[in-house]
Amino acid sequence: MDCLKDWPEPVVPVQSLSETGAAVIPDRYVKPPSERPSLDSTADENILGIPIVDLGGLAEGSAECRATMRAISDACREWGFFQVVNHGVSHELRERIRDVWRGFFQLPTEAKKAYANTPTTYEGYGSRIGVQKGAILDWGDYYYLQYLPHSAKNYDKWPLLPISIRDTIEEYGDEMARLCGILMKVMSISLGLDAEFLQKAIGGDDVGAALRANYYPKCPQPDLTLGLSAHSDPGVMTVLLADDQVKGLQVRKGGEWITVQPLPHAFIINVGDQIQVLSNATYKSVEHRVMANASADRLSLAFFYNPKCDLLLGPARELVSPDRPPLYQPMTYNEYRLYIRKNGPKGKTQVESLKAM
Ligand code: OGA
Ligand code: NI
Repeated sequence: MDCLKDWPEPVVPVQSLSETGAAVIPDRYVKPPSERPSLDSTADENILGIPIVDLGGLAEGSAECRATMRAISDACREWGFFQVVNHGVSHELRERIRDVWRGFFQLPTEAKKAYANTPTTYEGYGSRIGVQKGAILDWGDYYYLQYLPHSAKNYDKWPLLPISIRDTIEEYGDEMARLCGILMKVMSISLGLDAEFLQKAIGGDDVGAALRANYYPKCPQPDLTLGLSAHSDPGVMTVLLADDQVKGLQVRKGGEWITVQPLPHAFIINVGDQIQVLSNATYKSVEHRVMANASADRLSLAFFYNPKCDLLLGPARELVSPDRPPLYQPMTYNEYRLYIRKNGPKGKTQVESLKAM
């Protein structure tokens, strides 16, 4: 696809804009009023938060195990988001992966630009999603790399600095894949399917996965822009390691935006569009966005668990009945992700557009 060869305008890292210390953000980052966050409201104090699930319960007696599965199932139906604690990933590794990515974003601009990405694969260092000329941009930079299948790893696209970054990504990626495998089983069982169902449906040993390190520099006018516009994640499921000191992530619940307060040592899990499709909308992907911040920069790491890219994915036959006809037309993930790659983050318009006529 020709339009995906290169960006329609030169990419300016937001970090370099932030570092000028200018008091005003360029017009290209100013969102229309309906999309701007309300930073001054008491919404921040809402008592309502995304559910918290203790995964330790899965290894305990059958009553605890059932209760844990139930909690995950309820969270996937009602929120599309939850936090997990007792996930088995070491705190030390979490610190290390954050440190290497912080180190990467602290490199001089030219060193980072050596990894500049293009819209064809998105792999590398970049600052925009979507190729629409003149689009309003988000106040954030990122690094995106393909982690699974192992055959699709392209180390040329991985950073070399800081020195331990590649080994740390491998170690972290394996832990993320292990955690996703467990959650796939739980979701399968709680949908009334065979424990291996979802993993098999998304490609078994050939599933895809990608890591996106998001860096949101300080922003002089956080009331006018967003770090990341509202979107749902296109893949199967996302595991987010977020800063527990600097809030930013908001999740849509009904008509409201709920600010997530990450618990220390927790991961934030969210359902992606493909689980909504496979489960025939029993589990739903949910819109989320990131607020910009005037006083602190923020780093987050999103691990996207994705289907094998050339499989046709539609609602599981087991979840379709005359009372509950298939809601979505089957599509491959290769085709599916082209939408966001062309249009950028656009709420839930994509999965809605898959609705069977
Ligand atoms: C994403 C995402 C949230 C965050 O990368 O898809 O939603 O807090 N990130 O950075
Ligand atoms: Ni997301």
